[in-house]
Amino acid sequence: MLEVQGISYVYPGTDKPALENVSFKVEPGEFITIVGPNGSGKSTLARHLNGLLKPTKGRVLVDGLDTAREENLIDIRRRVGMVFQDPDNQIIAATVEDDVAFGLENLGLPPGEIRQRVAAALEAVKLAGLRSRPPYGLSGGQKQRLALAGVLAMQPRYLVLDEATSMLDPLARVEILQHLLHFCRERGIAVIFITHMMEEAIKSERMLILKEGKVILTGTPAQLMYKLNEITGAGLRPPVTVALSEGLRQKGIKLPPKIFTLEELAHALWRLNSKK
Ligand SMILES: Nc1ncnc2c1ncn2[C@@H]1O[C@H](COP(=O)(O)OP(=O)(O)O)[C@@H](O)[C@H]1O
Ligand SMILES: [Mg+2]
Repeated sequence: MLEVQGISYVYPGTDKPALENVSFKVEPGEFITIVGPNGSGKSTLARHLNGLLKPTKGRVLVDGLDTAREENLIDIRRRVGMVFQDPDNQIIAATVEDDVAFGLENLGLPPGEIRQRVAAALEAVKLAGLRSRPPYGLSGGQKQRLALAGVLAMQPRYLVLDEATSMLDPLARVEILQHLLHFCRERGIAVIFITHMMEEAIKSERMLILKEGKVILTGTPAQLMYKLNEITGAGLRPPVTVALSEGLRQKGIKLPPKIFTLEELAHALWRLNSKK
């Protein structure tokens, strides 16, 4: 289990905490989303999950290992895979497949297993067709997928994605996320997906909303997506489907409550129409 216990963090030389008394737990295999606007503390929180930053107050335990203890860090970083927004800092090798293999070679795994893991990871992010290409020729979105593949191949227990699919177009984003979740579910890897877009939390099991370094709401997407005052108060925008459903309701169209996927909205409209 990954446990964040009442952490606060103040960057050196500042006096306003970037995180304040944040607590949550992630079980193996879970898919949770952390949503917050720019500057709400998402990346600061992400950096705490594998010990890149140490809390000013509180603690973070990864399968019982405290991130504040230097001697735990190698083990913790094997357990917690992290992908950030900027893929250029995460790419090293001359070809796509060598780049994914890099970390595995450092672990001293047998060549057969390396080949297998590289192939599965490239498949999971739909980059298999580009395996022999040099990474510098890839688009921003492709580089982000490559960075993802490199971390997936390491098979961490917890995967932290900090706006790691931001350069993909919306359709590719949904598709890659589905593949990635399938990969992680099969292997029992927990996914901690960090984003500033409410839409992206819809498929997660649980979500947390951050505002100015504090967790202001937690629950399932179904519980939180219609808390429109809190969502806009946090500086976020509700999913388009939710805003649209609310707009239609205000115009007197009798939609059932709690619609939050496009499929549900389409289905509800279709049913209304077929009743006429
Ligand atoms: N290296 C840093 N030094 C000082 N303040 C920082 C640093 N990095 C981030 N901050 C501040 O901490 C707050 C949270 O930032 P961040 O975690 O990057 O938010 P987010 O990822 O949600 O955009 C912001 O007010 C930001 O200005
Ligand atoms: Mg950030």
